[in-house]
Amino acid sequence: MTILVTGGLGFIGSHTVVELIEQGEDCLIIDNLSKSVIDVLERIETIVHKKIPFIQLDLLDLDKLRTVFKENAITAVIHFAGFKSVGESVRNPLMYYQNNLMSTLNLLDVMKEFDVKKLVFSSSATVYGDLHTPPLKEDLSLHAPNPYGRTKLMLEEILQDIVAAQAGWSFALMRYFNPIGAHKSGLLGEMPFGVPNNLMPHILKAASGETSALQVFGGDYETEDGSCIRDFIHVMDLAKGHVKALNYIKAFEGCEAFNLGTGIGYSVFDLIRTFEDVNSVKVPFDIVARREGDIVASIADISKASMLLGWDAQYDLQAMCYDSWNWYQNILHSMTED
Ligand code: WQD
Repeated sequence: MTILVTGGLGFIGSHTVVELIEQGEDCLIIDNLSKSVIDVLERIETIVHKKIPFIQLDLLDLDKLRTVFKENAITAVIHFAGFKSVGESVRNPLMYYQNNLMSTLNLLDVMKEFDVKKLVFSSSATVYGDLHTPPLKEDLSLHAPNPYGRTKLMLEEILQDIVAAQAGWSFALMRYFNPIGAHKSGLLGEMPFGVPNNLMPHILKAASGETSALQVFGGDYETEDGSCIRDFIHVMDLAKGHVKALNYIKAFEGCEAFNLGTGIGYSVFDLIRTFEDVNSVKVPFDIVARREGDIVASIADISKASMLLGWDAQYDLQAMCYDSWNWYQNILHSMTED
């Protein structure tokens, strides 16, 4: 029986495919390669020592998507495909609504047609907005502060509505906090395409000398060291959380949200200092103005995932920093070789 992984060549998707294969699942990856490259497939196959079926496909292509379900015995879907840049979503909201909403609605339509009723959905801690004091629990009221976050919140609500209307569906909504790190082999990680949005890719660029300095967006927050606090989680812990969620929805009907974080908050300066210590490199930085829309602190309450999924984050901040740097040096080396 096959698990369909949409966006399976992306950062979180590729690491989850490795974990699925290592847990004995059969996978079929679909990806439109708009935010990834086919080279990632070969990297996954090198790690798991087997060929993985892949179809280049955009979920907006309904006919091609139907053919995938017609020709494969798909039993469940892990859905990563979607745009994920907060800044880009503010500049181009229509592209985000069109892509993230329509592709998921197409997927759900075809799943219904072929009676595939189990979905693990890639959501985000962004849906908590800036309404609450951490630690954040899954039953809190939700508010998305940007178009990217609103696509995640709307899709969560659509999935809740489907479950309320019709029996037989099983959904797990995975709310990621701040994913960083990379596979320990150094073969997989977040591809350094274009101008990064998130903190770790900018740390990597400053540490490697590609940029002169990391810009720290605000050093005057009401926190111990003045920088924002986040719940950084290793991408391999995130991958394991998805496999646990898949096992959960195999046995349960309904719709459940799960926080995927460590439950530990670290500041921007904590991450910089840990990265420097672990990797014996300097990360030059300048403190600049706050970034519009940033919240002071975002930390997960992870008791629900621990209790219902039997999942807990295993990797610490040191491992996240070491694996990120190991990956980045490898990918930079292979990109200069090509
Ligand atoms: C973290 C902290 C910045 C860059 C977003 C999305 C979330 C998820 C992760 C997709 C903040 C500071 C950052 C930089 C900095 N995305 N920072 N200099 O904003 O917590 O979350 O990305 O799933 O849904 O909302 O992550 O890494 O952008 O920022 O000082 O160059 O690092 O101000 O305090 P964020 P981030």
